[in-house]
Amino acid sequence: MSKISDPITIRDMEVKNRFGYPPMLSGSHDTEGRPTEKTFTQYEQKAKGGVGIMTYEATMVDPWLKGPGMTGSNIGITENIPAFRKMTDLIHKHNVKFGMQINKVAMITYTFMGLVNYFGIPSNIGPSSIDVEHASSAWALMVPSWLDSIKKNNLKIKELSIAEIEQIQDLYASGAKNAIEAGFDFVTIHSGHGTFPQSFLTPYFNKRTDKYGGSVEKRCTFIKETVAKIRESIGAKAPIIVRFSADELVHDGNKIEQSIEIAKILEKAGVDCLDITQGIIIRSPYGITIPSYCKPGCFIHLPEEIKKHVNIPVMGVGGINDPRMAAEFIEQGKADIINMGRQLICDAETPKKYFEGRIDDIKHCLGCLQSCGTCVYDAYSGLNYQELTPSTEPKKIVILGAGIAGMEAARVAKLRGHEVDIYEKSAKVGGLVELLAKEFGKERFMNMVTFLSTQLKKLNIPVHFNRELTKDEIAALNPDILVLATGSEATIPVNLKGKPNVITQDESILKSKDIGKDIVVWGLNAYWRGGLESVVSLAEEGYNIKAFVGSEAEVGQVIAGNAGRRFWISSWLRDSKIPIYTSAKLLDVTSEGVTFLDKDENEQFIEADSLVYCGSRITNGKALRENFEGTASEIKLIGDCRKPRDIQAAMTDAQKFIRSLK
Ligand SMILES: Cc1cc2nc3c(=O)[nH]c(=O)nc-3n(C[C@H](O)[C@H](O)[C@H](O)COP(=O)(O)OP(=O)(O)OC[C@H]3O[C@@H](n4cnc5c(N)ncnc54)[C@H](O)[C@@H]3O)c2cc1C
Ligand SMILES: Cc1cc2nc3c(=O)[nH]c(=O)nc-3n(C[C@H](O)[C@H](O)[C@H](O)COP(=O)(O)O)c2cc1C
Repeated sequence: MSKISDPITIRDMEVKNRFGYPPMLSGSHDTEGRPTEKTFTQYEQKAKGGVGIMTYEATMVDPWLKGPGMTGSNIGITENIPAFRKMTDLIHKHNVKFGMQINKVAMITYTFMGLVNYFGIPSNIGPSSIDVEHASSAWALMVPSWLDSIKKNNLKIKELSIAEIEQIQDLYASGAKNAIEAGFDFVTIHSGHGTFPQSFLTPYFNKRTDKYGGSVEKRCTFIKETVAKIRESIGAKAPIIVRFSADELVHDGNKIEQSIEIAKILEKAGVDCLDITQGIIIRSPYGITIPSYCKPGCFIHLPEEIKKHVNIPVMGVGGINDPRMAAEFIEQGKADIINMGRQLICDAETPKKYFEGRIDDIKHCLGCLQSCGTCVYDAYSGLNYQELTPSTEPKKIVILGAGIAGMEAARVAKLRGHEVDIYEKSAKVGGLVELLAKEFGKERFMNMVTFLSTQLKKLNIPVHFNRELTKDEIAALNPDILVLATGSEATIPVNLKGKPNVITQDESILKSKDIGKDIVVWGLNAYWRGGLESVVSLAEEGYNIKAFVGSEAEVGQVIAGNAGRRFWISSWLRDSKIPIYTSAKLLDVTSEGVTFLDKDENEQFIEADSLVYCGSRITNGKALRENFEGTASEIKLIGDCRKPRDIQAAMTDAQKFIRSLK
């Protein structure tokens, strides 16, 4: 039985432990595709944090790919080698094995970006000329205008000739050679998520009848030939890893049965390690950008199955946000290396803290997918990493509200050497996060409350519960700074106030009011900005959602939220067949039901026990500030109290203010 702390050998490369960081696009490169200071900082943070093996994000091998607007990396440009050499030198100082994932502009770019010419490189290429509409069905579901765009631009995939395929294989080989010259220990061919090599592996994208298409063996021809060309170009020493989707999570794609065959073929072709992933970004993104609705580690059965059929090391990945789970998977023989992507963005020191037994100090990824460059948890993490410095003028700080904003402000202030007290109106910490974690698939958000409250205890920060301080009481405490972190309130429009059958979003979650059985949900936006997650939650709890109605022109519009979360929730809504009314105008709510005008101005009546109103929230922060004027030399509003927004804004406000103090 192996342990996560055990070293492992890939080809001849010894890795110090089995914690891995998978390729994660950071969008932090310059217009030539070279890493910048931000890139160096965020990769080095992870290397310092104790991980054994890291793979640099998907890096293009197309030498022509550069110019204004580029944020990705490019190893096809030979002149970029010194910049990447600086990166590998930095990471190697921490005894971490570091590889580069190589990738090519192709159909995924085409469908993803709707761009035929991506920086002058044709991206409408693939093994076969297939139906783009179906190939990018996830996009069509999330962005209804996508289908019009396909038609308007007459988007088509160009089937490649054998000569063109060979030229592309040469690009992979020269990109790999550059990567090894830049000091990377290994190369990983990106052959998952719908990338170019995967479009050959999958029966849906590949309809060829020549040596590149047909049986699984023939669909592996492209990758086998590419591996051979790479081996020839990089020499015998460096390992070659292939990342591929062992379950494409679509009915007409590869499943584990075909993937076992692919794995065996790859092993025979000289591949040194398999990095098992899942999904196609333009059809099943929830396997790649995995939302909190999916259980942590829910894809581990894929590497587990593959491992039974090959003798080379196998990596596993997917929503694993606890090193103890990673350790268990290794001990159970489900994978040889566990990759943790977002978890190491959330807390780069996860492996180190695990090895030191400091589990309480680990921030666990929420799976929110709202911001993976700089985690919502910490405004100064990842791309924006900045060391916390001690205060030169410690202050006495009183904080009102023990939601996440108040707790984060207190934690960071105490770490900097300030004196802090929190006064909380209710009997517990967490504020709205306690409430939102009761929504479907969002239990994990409570990790944040657990982490923050544990840290407050460890730092001996007093939290005074059931205290709503008056002006005189605050003045008597004589603080230098008063921080208002009192949050926000749900609202309903004036004309619906006092109506017993109108329920706020908060009341619907807490069931603090009788909401009946048959429900109409108002507010079409996704997540907390509207009612989409409320619809899912209530329906999953067994309520009968009679209709989903709102004034918005489209359902599920979101600003934040990565593809996996959007796709999952949009598919759920489509499959539920709940009637949707867009551009509606609410007229009345009675004990009989809900009356509104639909988009064609026809009056609709829906029989229901209640209307759950999911609209905007309000804050009384300004009034509180005026009321408390004179109690402290500075009064600062943070989080929803300043303006109702989201977790990231609450956490950012808190740290930004406390860091701005001397
Ligand atoms: C249904 C729902 C789902 C959501 N989902 C998401 C999501 O998926 N992602 C996301 O980013 N955001 C989401 N949000 C928004 C997010 O929860 C908030 O933006 C965030 O929690 C705000 O934190 P806060 O600390 O500023 O305020 P709060 O969490 O509201 O905390 C305020 C605290 O102050 C206390 N308090 C109030 N008045 C006083 C007083 N006078 N004295 C002392 N204490 C007082 C309260 O009891 C509370 O504990 C959601 C919100 C809702 C309602
Ligand atoms: C922001 C983001 C960027 C990603 N970039 C890449 C990439 O460049 N190459 C790749 O193969 N996978 C990429 N992935 C997928 C991750 O490598 C990983 O498989 C996925 O995040 C699931 O693991 P996790 O839950 O531990 O984060 C990306 C995922 C996210 C969320």
